[in-house]
Amino acid sequence: MGIIETQIFKVDYQNPNPKDIAIAAQIIKDGGLVAFPTETVYGLGADATNPNASKEIYRAKGRPGDNPLIVHIDSMDMLWKVADQRDYRAERLADRFWGGPLTIILKKSELIPKETTGGLDTVAVRMPGRIVAQRLISAAGVPIAAPSANISGRPSPTMAKHVIEDFTGRIQGIIDDGPSPIGLESTIVDLSESETRILRPGYITLQDVEDTLDERVYIGYGNVSTERPKAPGMKYKHYAPKGELVLVKGDISNVVRTINELLDIAKGKREAVISCDENISKYNTKNKYSLGSMFSEDIMRNLYRTLRLLDEDRVDIAYCETFYNLKHSEAIMERLKRASSKIIEV
Ligand code: TXA
Ligand code: MG
Repeated sequence: MGIIETQIFKVDYQNPNPKDIAIAAQIIKDGGLVAFPTETVYGLGADATNPNASKEIYRAKGRPGDNPLIVHIDSMDMLWKVADQRDYRAERLADRFWGGPLTIILKKSELIPKETTGGLDTVAVRMPGRIVAQRLISAAGVPIAAPSANISGRPSPTMAKHVIEDFTGRIQGIIDDGPSPIGLESTIVDLSESETRILRPGYITLQDVEDTLDERVYIGYGNVSTERPKAPGMKYKHYAPKGELVLVKGDISNVVRTINELLDIAKGKREAVISCDENISKYNTKNKYSLGSMFSEDIMRNLYRTLRLLDEDRVDIAYCETFYNLKHSEAIMERLKRASSKIIEV
């Protein structure tokens, strides 16, 4: 593969320049790749109806071919073009959560080739809320397949800078409209069977989905090491920094004491602590990162950015607090477990 010239479009997140959107949309229509912002993370976009364009996504990311892509749409009309399963659950969830951080899985239509769905006969669909994403899909006039815009295995990008790091010279365009407000990937809900299942936790919680559907919702992702997941992507180690990440779980005073002891032992390595505003001052090291306040959405928003900072700062081993009992604990802890090599319970 030769080096590709990557155009960077810096746009206003509320009012992007239509000329920039038109150029980016043309790249997509021509079968090329454009990374673009969504409210969750940045996506690496291509025409979802074009098998060769989807193949290009796998090549650029280094992604295994059995790991299907999410198809991004701009309207309910487009939903019924990509999905061949009229389902009241889809209508209700779309009504309540779209555009927003929710992906649903339905039987796919003929319009979507198997190259886009990793060989499956179902399709994952999401209508993003981010204005720039909506404008891009509308201007392209086709559904846009987009996985998170990171090289396979790395933390997902929450800033254009992360995409630029991973993809300059490998894709035709990158749209930059600032940081992603949510910072973790969308919740995935499988509607392709009669039981409703969450395949990946996210900003929209199981409770949110149950309340909306007024029925029992099941969990379809499992223990990281023993699972046989339904979302093929969930079987891979993910989001991991290059160094080691160790989670320390328990009563906060025990966690602080244990981490401070471990910091002493690990001399010679470049070590760090990941904590939150409420606890950060308790650690005896200069190398510490706060994810923000435990009582806000900062923990979720800053997680991937912080994991990438560990790489930039060449941290060999990072000790991280755990975050249970928050509204978004399920999503946060699922990512932290996948990014880490072990959990110490104290
Ligand atoms: O927030 C998001 O969802 C972001 C933004 C860019 O929209 N996208 C994203 O895509 O996270 P990706 O490719 O990194 O994760 C997609 C996940 C994978 O775990 C994949 O296996 C699963 O969705 N998936 C996609 N299609 C599926 C299908 N038909 N059945 C089961 N799982 C599917
Ligand atoms: Mg991803």
